[in-house]
This record gives sequence, structure tokens and C-alpha cells, in this order.
Amino acid sequence: MSVTITREGEIALVTVDNPPVNALGQALRQGLWDAVSTLDADDKVKAVVLICAGRTFIAGADVREFGQTPQPPHLPDLVTKIEAAQKPWVAAIHGSALGGGLEVALGCRFRVAVENASLGLPEVTLGVIPGASGTVRTPRLIGLEKAIAMITSGKPVRAKQALTDGLVDAVIEGDLKDGTLAFARNALQQPLPQPISFRPAPQADETFWQAQQESVRKAARGASAPLMALESVRHSTILPFDEAMAFERQTFLERRDSREAAALRRIFFAERGATRPATLQDVTPVTLKTIGVIGGGTMGAGIAAALREAGYPVILTEQDETAVERGLANIRKIFDDSVKRGRQSEAQAQERFAGVTGTCNYADLADADLVIEAVFEEISVKRAVFEKLGQVCRPDAILATNTSYIDPRAIAEGLPHPERFIGLHFFSPAHIMKLLEIVPVPETSDAVLATGFSLAAKLKKMPVRAGICEGFIGNRILKRYRAAAEDLLRKGNNIADIDAAMRSYGLAMGPFEAQDLGGLDIAYLQREGARATGQVIPQTLGDILVEAGRKGQKTAGGWYDYADGNRKGQPSAAVTALLKPHVTNGSPMSATEIAEALVGEIAAEGQAILDEGIATDAVDIDLVKIHGYGFPRWRGGPMFASGRA
Ligand code: COA
Ligand code: NAD
Repeated sequence: MSVTITREGEIALVTVDNPPVNALGQALRQGLWDAVSTLDADDKVKAVVLICAGRTFIAGADVREFGQTPQPPHLPDLVTKIEAAQKPWVAAIHGSALGGGLEVALGCRFRVAVENASLGLPEVTLGVIPGASGTVRTPRLIGLEKAIAMITSGKPVRAKQALTDGLVDAVIEGDLKDGTLAFARNALQQPLPQPISFRPAPQADETFWQAQQESVRKAARGASAPLMALESVRHSTILPFDEAMAFERQTFLERRDSREAAALRRIFFAERGATRPATLQDVTPVTLKTIGVIGGGTMGAGIAAALREAGYPVILTEQDETAVERGLANIRKIFDDSVKRGRQSEAQAQERFAGVTGTCNYADLADADLVIEAVFEEISVKRAVFEKLGQVCRPDAILATNTSYIDPRAIAEGLPHPERFIGLHFFSPAHIMKLLEIVPVPETSDAVLATGFSLAAKLKKMPVRAGICEGFIGNRILKRYRAAAEDLLRKGNNIADIDAAMRSYGLAMGPFEAQDLGGLDIAYLQREGARATGQVIPQTLGDILVEAGRKGQKTAGGWYDYADGNRKGQPSAAVTALLKPHVTNGSPMSATEIAEALVGEIAAEGQAILDEGIATDAVDIDLVKIHGYGFPRWRGGPMFASGRA
């Protein structure tokens, strides 16, 4: 760590260098503290530019210190000291100014940023609230609504938006240092603005606060930190500055020690380590230039879109010309939807689509470095595909299957050079869902395994290594969860009550409404397939519904009725009648009991998966549930929530 002072005429440059992200650990806080004192004592210095080396401005408090006793100088005191400095400080921002990093910038008299910089207060995503004036200074600078949105969502804004909002004073084009020095020289010619703490706090009435509480509560899905952050913003408008600061600090310290914060910190570090598993540290991944995708259906199109977004040229291979056209149209539709939602520009969509080559000639895959198969979930179809790939692809090309349930060892049987085979299990929609289960077979080489993880990093996905069993980690747990939900139904609980209980626990959807959305027929067909091979699988309540033509939203009825294309389901008298013979009239459980029972089942299956070595760490199971199945992040995943981790 270093804080270096240099001089450019009458302007001092304070350069922070604390790799990798200039996090504000104790040593850096002390370094900045001392720099303020040194420069205050230097009469020749008229202004100070605070700038950072490396890839980012100060990216926040050092999260590793959150579990320890705070050491002085404390961050709020440092921010106050910078604000009270006798020379104006200018924060020169590149990369990210997040959390404590932004708070330090709020202590500066001016803030400037390069165009691709982002600024935000992500503390609630770590289960805490801003602890060094974020909730007190930000509303004074940008007004209540913008401050509340930024603080309670934790989402950063880009520099241009920050300029519009008044969070920064200028967007610097060209070199940041030169641009900031020019800005500072110009600023010295004019009256200085008031320090933020001197400015009046914006005011709002009770109706405003009630509406804010309502919307923050809804978005938080049970997490406490966003509501506590809102409360701190509210106090900043009714208490004098110093008292508001004390309230914020007190709340921050309490939140820091909460279970929610511990859960979110653990996930934060697990996510950052996920793409670089310790066992593969010394293994070099294979460089991928061109990637083939076999099958342009739901998954193949989504995978191709994700690969294009990461810049890989894609060869989409289908059965025949018609299927190629259909596959290309599926990809085009994904890009068109992204344009409509503002996720990419029309020009980006055109460029991405142009990078997909459609073919029904497997020989076109001769140069591919990786081929991902996403054809029908049938062993004979998949084997035939890999037989062809074994003939046309380079012997060192990596061959991957996206199978959900079939044993990858059976798919790879007879493949020449089986060390290049691997399961890459994407989730639907594959261009959106973050989870990627990486499933090596016994022959898979370390280089190929490492390539799976590095590909995930390029695709901005969350990779989790899974061993081989039916459904790997995620779908195996899902099966038990659904069975447990049906069990509660059989015992006399309502479908809607079970869904509501899981929503109030923090999931985006309950188990039944989620099935209606995805379609009940997928799991049904899978069970039927297994039954056809002689496996004994008892009838599920879902089977009864599918056999009555109720496959979910797409048939206007599943566990619920969906009248006139309405996506909000209504309790169904038809379902009650169909299931009546299978339901006992037990006494219904409370929402808490339902959630506890179902999360308990999820965690018990997770434990079995861990005990069998299918997952390597409990946190992997938590990552799977959070990134693949909408489990509330603030609870830390089922293993953490149930005290198994
Ligand atoms: N405290 C401690 N370590 C941190 C950190 C923080 N606030 N932010 C990042 N790191 C570490 C990561 O754990 C990782 O360490 P590793 O290389 O040992 O695994 C390293 O810095 C790089 O982080 P990574 O996220 O992989 O880098 P990136 O370039 O993709 O992203 C950021 C950079 C700053 C955008 C991202 O790290 C981030 O969002 N950090 C959190 C910032 C935050 O929440 N600050 C508020 C805290 S109150
Ligand atoms: P899909 O029916 O939508 O698409 C399959 C595509 O494969 C079709 O377009 C078909 O024309 C093509 N195809 C079939 N045989 C082919 C061949 N020999 N050569 C080239 N193309 C061929 O199916 P899907 O939902 O995309 O599923 C594909 C795979 O992904 C399956 O293994 C499935 O289990 C798995 N998966 C599906 C999901 C999901 O939610 N749909 C999620 C994860 C994994």
C-alpha cells in the first residue's frame, strides 16, 4: 500500500496504490489521514487531486476488515477531515468509486470521473448500510429520490448519469490526471462550493416516506439492510448533521455484526473465487477462438447468444436447413428482445448476429476449439452427435454436453480422446442465467476442466463444479424440493399458501407457480422416460395435472388457472377436484413452518450431495441455489441459512 504525494505547480497529487482494488484498509486510511495533515501544512499547495493507480478508484471499505474490531482512523472521521481540509480536494475517479470509496469522494470538494467510471453505494448488497456519511451526505448532494434509489438498491450509476444527477461535477475526456488538473486550476479561479455537510438536508412529508418504505420493502424481499439504509436516510433529513452521522454509524456497526451481513460477505468472496478453483491454480486453460454449438433450440440459441455477447465467433449446427433457419431465428429473437429491453443497441445486436454462422454440415466444425452440444435429451441422439464430432473435430477440440440428466459418461462412451470431454450445464434462459454447472467425467483433463472455469469467467457466469448424479447439484435438489412441496399439499396445505410462504421467505416465486412458468411437462416426460426403462417412480401430483392436459401457463392451466393470457394465476377449482382423492384434511401449517420445512429439505439434499462428494463445498450448493434458482442471497443460501455451513 502506498499514498504518494507529488506536486504539479500549486496543485498536489495524492496517488493511492493499494492493489488490487485500492480497498480502504486501515493502512490506507492512515495514509490519507497523514496526507491531509501534510498538505494542510504546505502553504504552496492550493488544491489537491486524489487519484488512484491501477484498475480503479477506491473500490470501497476493505470487506475483509468487516469481521474485525474497527481500527482508527475510522472512515467517517477521514471523510470529515478531507472535507475540512484547508485546500479543496478533487476526487479523480476511474473504474469504480464504491461504498467507502464514494464516501471519500463525497468528502472532497469536487468529484470528476472518466466516462466509463461507475459510482455507487453497494453496502446493502453486503448486508450493511453506508457507514461513512453515504446516507447523510448523498441526499444533500443529489436529492432524496436519487439518493434513496442508489443507497437502497446498491446499484452503481455510470459517470454520465452521475453528472446528470449532480453526483460528479464533470466527466473528463482524455487523460484523467491532466483533465482533473485543468479542472482544479479552473475551479480555483471561482468561488468554492459549500462542503456537502454545510448544505441543507432535503425534506419530505410522511406520505413520501411511507411510499418509499413500501417500495423498498417490496424490492428487498425480506432483506433488512435496504430498509435500515432508508431509515438512516430519513434520519439524515430530520436530525442535525452530526446526530445523523452518529445514527448512521450506529446502524452500520450493528448491521456489520448481523447474520445477513455474514451471509452476504461469505457469498461475496465465494463468487470472486468461483472462477479460479484452488485445485486448478497451476493449470493453464486452453485458449478458445471459435466455438461450435449443436442444436439451436431453447438452450442452443441461448448459449450461442451468451457466447456472442462475450465476443466468440459461433458456428451453429443443426439437423437440416429448416432447423438452421429456425435456430438462427431463435438467436435473432434473443438479440431483438435485448434491444427492446435496452440491454444492447441495434448495432450491437447486428454485430453479434453477424458473428453466428449457421450450418447443417458437421464438417464446418473442423476448426472449432470447443463444441457445446444442446440437442434433444436422448442418449441415442447425443451419442450420434458425439460420434460425428469425434470424426470431424480436431483431436484437441474440447467437446461438451449440456445434458440436464443423462450420465455424461454414457454420452462420452467410445469418444476418441475422452480427456477433452466435459459437461457444461447451462440454465435456461442461457444468455441470462448466471449459473453454470461444470461436470467433468473421470477422463476429463485438468486443462479442459480449467477451460470450463475460464469460459465461465468470460461469459460472466458463476461456475460450480458438480459431480455426476441424476440432476447434478441444482436439479437434484429441485426434485426433492418439488416432492416436498407436493407432500405438504397432500397433507392439507393450499397450493397458494405454499407459494406465498416461499415468497415471503424471499424466493422470487413459490414451487408451484415456478413450475407453471417453466412447464410441468418437462419433468413429466423425464419421469415417463425413466418409467419406460423399468424404473419405479410413484405417481406425482404433477403427473395427474399433466395427464389432465394442465402443463402450466402455456396451456392456460397448471397448478393455477390462467384466464385470458393473464400471467397471474388464480386458484383452480379443477385442480382441487383432480387432487381431492390424494389430499388429506390435515391442519394447515403456518407460512414460517412451510418455509422451514421446505428449506430444511433443500438443505438435507444439499448435505447428501456434499457427503457423496458431488459438491466440493457447502458454499457451492449455496451458489447454485442463489444463481440458478432464485434463493434469497441475503440468507446466504440453504446451507448457510440452515446452519449447515
Ligand atoms: N474489500 C476487499 N477486497 C476486495 C474488495 C473490497 N471492497 N473488492 C474487491 N476485493 C478483492 C476481491 O476479493 C478480489 O480478490 P482476489 O483477487 O484475492 O480474489 C480482488 O479484489 C479483485 O476483485 P474482482 O471483483 O475480481 O475485480 P473486478 O475488477 O472484477 O471488480 C470491483 C472490481 C471493484 C468492481 C469489484 O471488486 C467490486 O464490486 N467490489 C466490491 C466493492 C464494494 O462492495 N465496496 C463497498 C464495500 S462497503
Ligand atoms: P430443444 O428441443 O429446444 O432444442 C433441441 C435442438 O436440437 C432442436 O432445435 C433440434 O433441431 C436440435 N437437434 C436435434 N438433433 C440434432 C442433431 N443431430 N444435430 C443438430 N441438431 C439437432 O431442447 P432444449 O430445451 O434446448 O434442450 C437441449 C439440451 O439442453 C437437452 O439436453 C436438455 O436437457 C438441456 N437443457 C435444457 C434446459 C431447459 O430448460 N430447456 C436447461 C438446461 C439444459
